[in-house]
Amino acid sequence: MKPELSPFRPGQTVPLEFFVGRIAEIERLQSMVKASTQGQFKIGFISGERGIGKSSLASFVRYLSDSSCNAAGCHVYLGGVRELNEMVRTTFDRILKESIDKSWHQQAMEFFGDHVRKVGLFGFSLELNITDKDLPSLSRNFVPSMRHLLDKLSDQKDALLLILDDINGLATSEDFANWLKSTVDEITTSGQEVPLCILVVGLEERRRELISGQPSLARVFELIDISPWSDDEAAEFYQRTFESANAKIEETELSQLVRFTGGLPVLAHEIGDAVWRTAQSLNINAKEVSQGISVAAEIIGRKLLEPQIFSAIRSERYRSILRKIAGEPQMYFRRAELVENLTEKEVKVVDSFLRRMKQLGAIETVADVKGGYRFPNLLHALYFWLESEYAKD
Ligand SMILES: Nc1ncnc2c1ncn2[C@@H]1O[C@H](COP(=O)(O)OP(=O)(O)OP(=O)(O)O)[C@@H](O)[C@H]1O
Ligand SMILES: [Mg+2]
Repeated sequence: MKPELSPFRPGQTVPLEFFVGRIAEIERLQSMVKASTQGQFKIGFISGERGIGKSSLASFVRYLSDSSCNAAGCHVYLGGVRELNEMVRTTFDRILKESIDKSWHQQAMEFFGDHVRKVGLFGFSLELNITDKDLPSLSRNFVPSMRHLLDKLSDQKDALLLILDDINGLATSEDFANWLKSTVDEITTSGQEVPLCILVVGLEERRRELISGQPSLARVFELIDISPWSDDEAAEFYQRTFESANAKIEETELSQLVRFTGGLPVLAHEIGDAVWRTAQSLNINAKEVSQGISVAAEIIGRKLLEPQIFSAIRSERYRSILRKIAGEPQMYFRRAELVENLTEKEVKVVDSFLRRMKQLGAIETVADVKGGYRFPNLLHALYFWLESEYAKD
């Protein structure tokens, strides 16, 4: 069917009506925002695997908080930012831009004063005009600046929800870790009300890295760890999304889709979209589902896997081994069990295969288990499995 009519949105934020699950996490985050509207400072860390829906959850909560808690929201994407001052600049710039069509725009403009510049060739957009020289002082005075901003916003809004998303590049920055800790300390020891809720978003290993740079940060965050969707949630997602486009799919095919999704929303959108494009009519049949999944495997490999891992496992030499690793979706395997299923030729290259995969970070050795390996990343485990099921020809 026509790709432009697909109700799936690979690579994009999911429209609110197709957002599925995460009820407990939403309630928890909402109650944090609510507390911040009462003047209590809150800070949380949303962690989870790549593509599991961290940004989407944060964005959903931000939407809800605006309407139900009267909290202004600002979602700052920090992917690529590696340095504290740059992070602070990006954050204030984002606050300015997010205010543009909001009820609190006037208040934000008053706060930024002369530091706003109109830019853009067509139409206009606003940009924060801060020199590199001013940045260290802005980072140091983050808390007073925030207080001033919150004070201004209080005419319109009861709190500010600040989402610091994709802090992966900052996790190893000691400056950032220390800045976070001192920001929290400065706010909590002041004894004053600060209607601010900060949500830091990143991979779990990044949270650990951040804490290793500043161990006392460990106690600071409320932790919100996102797990894979349950089978029911994945089924609900497919059902609801296909239904929205009037497409029909039988139970058996639905459970096939759920099985290959492994609870990862990012895969659900890719697989759903590939099945949609493969299908000839709105009554989607088993063959189309199966073909769609195989098309999706190829797309997922190219789009979501690290290019070196993808190209390594495309080599004929390694591909046949790969197919034998992942008979079922699993996070662990043992060399001895793998070797049992390999041909003589494959056995010859199995160690170089394992070494290469390890070097690229696709697998790691399991301490205490001789010849034991695990996939550190659910996406890799699922992809290897998809590949093993569908690359057989
Ligand atoms: N609860 C959900 N319901 C429906 N779709 C979702 C949900 N959560 C995430 N998605 C979709 O899954 C994909 C990945 O989600 P998202 O970008 O939020 O994940 P992430 O954990 O932030 O990933 P990354 O680690 O790469 O930043 C997106 O296309 C998004 O629209
Ligand atoms: Mg994200």
